[in-house]
Amino acid sequence: MSQTILIHEAGGVLELRFNRPDKKNAILGAMYDVLTAALHDASARPEVRAVLIGAEGDAFTAGNDIRDFLAMPDGLEQAPPARFIQAIATFGKPLVAAVQGVAVGVGTTLLLHCDLVYASPAAAFSVPFVNLGLVPEAGSSLLLPARMGHARAAALLLLGEAMDVAQALSAGLLTAIVPAAELQEHARAKARDLAAKPAAALAATRALMRGDPAALHARMREEEAAFSQALASPEARAAFAAFLGRRASPAP
Ligand code: COA
Repeated sequence: MSQTILIHEAGGVLELRFNRPDKKNAILGAMYDVLTAALHDASARPEVRAVLIGAEGDAFTAGNDIRDFLAMPDGLEQAPPARFIQAIATFGKPLVAAVQGVAVGVGTTLLLHCDLVYASPAAAFSVPFVNLGLVPEAGSSLLLPARMGHARAAALLLLGEAMDVAQALSAGLLTAIVPAAELQEHARAKARDLAAKPAAALAATRALMRGDPAALHARMREEEAAFSQALASPEARAAFAAFLGRRASPAP
């Protein structure tokens, strides 16, 4: 059976790759669990100096698997997506991402917790929670406006519009745009560069850059409460049904 998250370690870099390309790397609960466990493991082992997140296929990730939304429990804080978000938001080592295609929902919001984000020209970024009757997560209601200003964040979060790489670069979401053929190696080389730096100084610098996490964590709790409520709403249920039913073909 193929692994939906590929894990590889070399040169002090732990590489995590979405590998569900036929479903545009939509993330299932079990995939979040693997990612969360890998981040915890990476935190615990000093030989892991940096983590690189990438993906197989033509999409980075289409975000949370929409069918999985229907099965989520009422209290979201222990659900796999929330545990993953908590793990990435509190991760203490450098995080690098290589985005080669569409990054939807958590595919974009996880990037707000990464330090270096490289994308190829085909990448696109969207957080269309509102179109699904949902609200932002992973602190994105705080981090996106802080990163790019309220007006640009509103086009993403309220209108559900996508950003191309040029817009994402100018909005401060990306470190650089890299040709597709060079993307993975470029990101890997940067992760290895980080892995070769003095680890304590790097971790302290990163923590200083990120500042006091209290406001972020408070916002994440508020988002979780609002998300829980939205998930059960008739408008969200209708949006999920519309996505899942869009290919339903008439009986022959
Ligand atoms: N959850 C579950 N399945 C998903 C999915 C998701 N988030 N995103 C894509 N898929 C599945 C599709 O249902 C389709 O499956 P099928 O071949 O069995 O019908 C397959 O992945 C390919 O997707 P498709 O829509 O045909 O690809 P596309 O290139 O036309 O579009 C996207 C790609 C990502 C733009 C589109 O799939 C999409 O909008 N997905 C939903 C994104 C989303 O709203 N995520 C939640 C954010 S909170």
